Amino acid sequence: MDSTMERAGNFLPRVDDSAASSNAVDRRVVTLTAPASAAAEQYRTLYYRLERMREQRPMKVVALTSAMPGEGKTVTSVNLALAAARANPERRILLVDADLRRGQVAPTLGMRNKVGLAELLAGECDVRDVVRRFNSTRLAVIPAGATPEESTQVLASARMKQFLKAVREGFDEVYVDLPPTLPFADAAILGHQMDGVLMVIRANVTPSKVVNQAVEQLAGAALVGCVLNGAEVNATPYLKNYVKK
Ligand SMILES: Nc1ncnc2c1ncn2[C@@H]1O[C@H](COP(=O)(O)OP(=O)(O)O)[C@@H](O)[C@H]1O
Ligand SMILES: [Mg+2]
Repeated sequence: MDSTMERAGNFLPRVDDSAASSNAVDRRVVTLTAPASAAAEQYRTLYYRLERMREQRPMKVVALTSAMPGEGKTVTSVNLALAAARANPERRILLVDADLRRGQVAPTLGMRNKVGLAELLAGECDVRDVVRRFNSTRLAVIPAGATPEESTQVLASARMKQFLKAVREGFDEVYVDLPPTLPFADAAILGHQMDGVLMVIRANVTPSKVVNQAVEQLAGAALVGCVLNGAEVNATPYLKNYVKK
């Protein structure tokens, strides 16, 4: 084992005893529930586009946000992280639910929330207590935990910076499910600390003016693309280059 592996070993996720059987997984987690579907293929395509961008520049921590709630950040984050874990089983992949207000990663995966990022940032527990392995896959997951009173303050804290530094050392790829950009300052604050930000846009729902406002709010963050999330089951997400870096 080389030294990198040893360091990474500090974050070896615990087996989640509460991880539910696969029928508790939301059916929209198509990467798992329907891996042969066209939708699952789109998430793999999204992942390989990120991989190609990684050839140009390192991009370890990738966050997903959207202008408004309900555009599909969580469904996209979960599918993307699972696609990553399948595509590169030798890499350590982590999915972090940073939407402390409406943490949906754990329920979407059929995992019990228990403690998560909120408790970690409150100083109540250690990274090792909150990282779980999802259902015998290689994917490590940090759920949101209990909604704190001051989500923005908590995410803007020095502890969050330390946390991101620690996961950068412990994992090869980190996907962060952020809160929506327009209603809260959270995404704008955290966006700067990410290597890449993907903007999820609900197709035929979110007006372009609203998307533009969100992009403006993220000014300075490394916006690397947008994902058009179709509301219809056969409308699939795709990524297009938004800003060429
Ligand atoms: N591509 C899709 N097709 C069908 N339903 C979707 C799709 N993406 C998201 N949804 C549904 O829309 C709702 C919002 O998605 P979610 O990922 O939780 O949004 P966000 O995290 O941006 O608030 C959820 O009920 C989710 O299951
Ligand atoms: Mg969400």
